[in-house]
Amino acid sequence: MNHQVRPAERGADSEVDIDLRHHGDSETGPGLLDFAVNVRTGTPPAWLAERIAASITDLATYPDPGSARRAVAARHGRDPADVLLTAGAAEAFVLLARVLRPRRAVVVHPQFTEPEAALRAAGHRVERVLLRPPGFLLDPEAVPEDADLVMLGNPTNPTSVLHPATVVTRLARPGRTLVVDEAFADCVPGEPESVAGRRDTPGLVVVRSLTKTWGLAGLRAGYLLAAPDLVERLAAAQPLWSVSTPALVATEACCAPAAIAEAEQWARQLARDREAFAEALRAAGVCVTPAAAASFLLVNVGDGNRVRARLRDEGIAVRRGDTFPGLGSDWLRVAVRDEKTSLRMARTLAKLL
Ligand SMILES: Cc1ncc(COP(=O)(O)O)c(C=O)c1O
Repeated sequence: MNHQVRPAERGADSEVDIDLRHHGDSETGPGLLDFAVNVRTGTPPAWLAERIAASITDLATYPDPGSARRAVAARHGRDPADVLLTAGAAEAFVLLARVLRPRRAVVVHPQFTEPEAALRAAGHRVERVLLRPPGFLLDPEAVPEDADLVMLGNPTNPTSVLHPATVVTRLARPGRTLVVDEAFADCVPGEPESVAGRRDTPGLVVVRSLTKTWGLAGLRAGYLLAAPDLVERLAAAQPLWSVSTPALVATEACCAPAAIAEAEQWARQLARDREAFAEALRAAGVCVTPAAAASFLLVNVGDGNRVRARLRDEGIAVRRGDTFPGLGSDWLRVAVRDEKTSLRMARTLAKLL
């Protein structure tokens, strides 16, 4: 068994002790080599920054999401009625938490903590299903049958594990909302396990982000894909004009075939850089979570707090693991950078260990 179900009653107190609102950006800073944040370096690309900058001349007009919505729909082979544009994936989680009325909400961890934070902030009780090392594999049987809301990430932050679409969709059933956070889906060439194009899966909601691949963390651009009736209910709860004109322009631009081809090419390079980094870390004696598919690696170093502090002394910022439910302080998440930068980091780590 690589999982454990924790009853909400038993886990509730210790669960809120974890700072679910801790994120990698608070671990990096000026002068530090950033392995803590998962945004692609060298982004946004110049062509995208220019498109966004050009949209500034239209700021006197209220944003019109129509064209960006159609572009997202076309990119995923969906109908525009299936698309809700949001101010980043983060807004999608908040809208879902405010609109849905789950009797039994389950979050599959370790994963990005904002979905759970949003549910709790909206007053919902949350149960956790913890996937277990070394593989952090998804076992649909671990999710309670009567859970009417299930949230998971694919590929998952921070484990970098990519669950097969056939396993993910086994979690779907009538009467249940299944939210799949695909913020890192475009790290995988061809996105073979993405379920963004599925219209036949009951209760499926797919959340996507432009933040990571396109370097738009400060712009707030993302979207969700769901059945039109749920999209309508979520839209009714969304603040008017929530997604700004520059964010709409960026969303449409990133759905263009040329942008998708660029992301695909980057994803292929990422796979090579990630493999080289993982190999160097293993050679340094670090335990690396296998089968990584995203732009980061989850590693177990033993005495992670000391290692993290020592790395910081050496000018390197990494993401602590202990604010992810299911992980402890021995775990660290490290972003994959270009091979030269990653190998430098691995050498420093080898020295410290
Ligand atoms: C897995 C995952 N989903 C969603 C988000 C949030 O994305 P956005 O910037 O689009 O709100 C993050 C950001 O760290 C993330 O790691």
